[in-house]
Amino acid sequence: APHFQFRNGVLHAEDVPLADLARQFGTPLYVYSRQALHDAWDAYRVASQGRNVLVCFGMKANSNLAVLNEFKKLGAGFDIVSGGELARVLAVGGDASRVVFSGVGKQVWEMRAALEAGVKCFNVESEPELLRLAEVAEQLGMVAPVSLRVNPDVDAQTHPYISTGLKENKFGIAIDSAVAVYQRAAALPSLEIVGVDCHIGSQITEVSPYLDALEKLIVLVKALARLGIDLKHLDLGGGIGIRYTDETLLAPSVLLDKVFQALDAHGLAHLQLVLEPGRSLVGNSGVLLTTVEYLKHGDAKNFAIVDAAMNDLIRPTLYDAWHSVETVAPRHNGDTALVYDIVGPICESGDWLARDRKLDIRQGDLLAIMSAGAYAYTMASQYNTRPRAAEIMVDGSQAYVVRPRETVESLFATEKILD
Ligand code: LLP
Repeated sequence: APHFQFRNGVLHAEDVPLADLARQFGTPLYVYSRQALHDAWDAYRVASQGRNVLVCFGMKANSNLAVLNEFKKLGAGFDIVSGGELARVLAVGGDASRVVFSGVGKQVWEMRAALEAGVKCFNVESEPELLRLAEVAEQLGMVAPVSLRVNPDVDAQTHPYISTGLKENKFGIAIDSAVAVYQRAAALPSLEIVGVDCHIGSQITEVSPYLDALEKLIVLVKALARLGIDLKHLDLGGGIGIRYTDETLLAPSVLLDKVFQALDAHGLAHLQLVLEPGRSLVGNSGVLLTTVEYLKHGDAKNFAIVDAAMNDLIRPTLYDAWHSVETVAPRHNGDTALVYDIVGPICESGDWLARDRKLDIRQGDLLAIMSAGAYAYTMASQYNTRPRAAEIMVDGSQAYVVRPRETVESLFATEKILD
């Protein structure tokens, strides 16, 4: 990614050498590029030109307020999955009328908060949820805007852990039952049907699964129209993949062109298109900086033990995900390179960040784990009483702390011992 480049032999974030940031703020350290966020947004903006599109950032990928604030200023909406995420959107002055609320387990307090904030839409995932929402809205004397998340039963051809659009997944309402559930919703006066949505999976690199899902949604939209149920928007979810290594990229413009073609061909150009991209807006906008604590050479394996761990970045061990690893200041000849597993200090064999990487490194060297802008910090934990790392946003030659490193004391400050 052009936002993280080698200059004078040192990896930079925009104009800032990563080694300087490590020295100043310590490691492990998350570093984001502000320009990378803007450029990722731009791909969607350009692809949407002249059409009615609302891009709702799937903020579970990265919910730091500084990141949300950038997207808010760029005109994004937000796809939220909890009352907590709603509170973050409101904390940056985000516009609730551009928020869609997804998730299979919405609680009463979350529904209330979202109704009171005035969200654009509840993406309802089951009939019992629909009934609960109708009740909560009625109690508040309000009308809840509703879209049904249908499960189109298509194979997103991605990792099973992050595939969500198959029959066997817990998500959404089976597409065959959708008409009946819409009719049920139409009969409830505290609900207003506004749309339909789906989300078929994540890290998708092909256009065909989206088009398969879209075709099924279009059939549904037409069936509903015949019953007098007219929708205002169609939400295709998120899922566009990024390049972790050599994946072919699905550009937003390629996807959107095909989607507009299909909508136009079916006389549905009036529908607003909603998207919920997460990873593709932030994934390659961040890196995780870490220091080599020890090198451990053995008969079977060589280990580089670093100060970041699975609590900072769980994707490798959870999904077998591949993140590239760069030496921040590579040695020129590289002739003492060895093959290493990059592992953390946590007491679990699953605590690894990368495997079988050829690196020419010494104790004290800095490594950058790439593509760590999405599902990295947001999935971090404090396992082994490890404070969560600091987050830095770089803008040109400036670096801003957008979340300080947690202190050890803060991790147990509210715990109580018995008398
Ligand atoms: N909309 C809904 C309803 C979702 O469930 C998700 C992600 C998104 C949008 C955003 O999807 P994206 O554009 O980021 O692919 N932790 C996993 C990814 C889990 C995705 C969960 N849902 C990972 O690190 O790969």
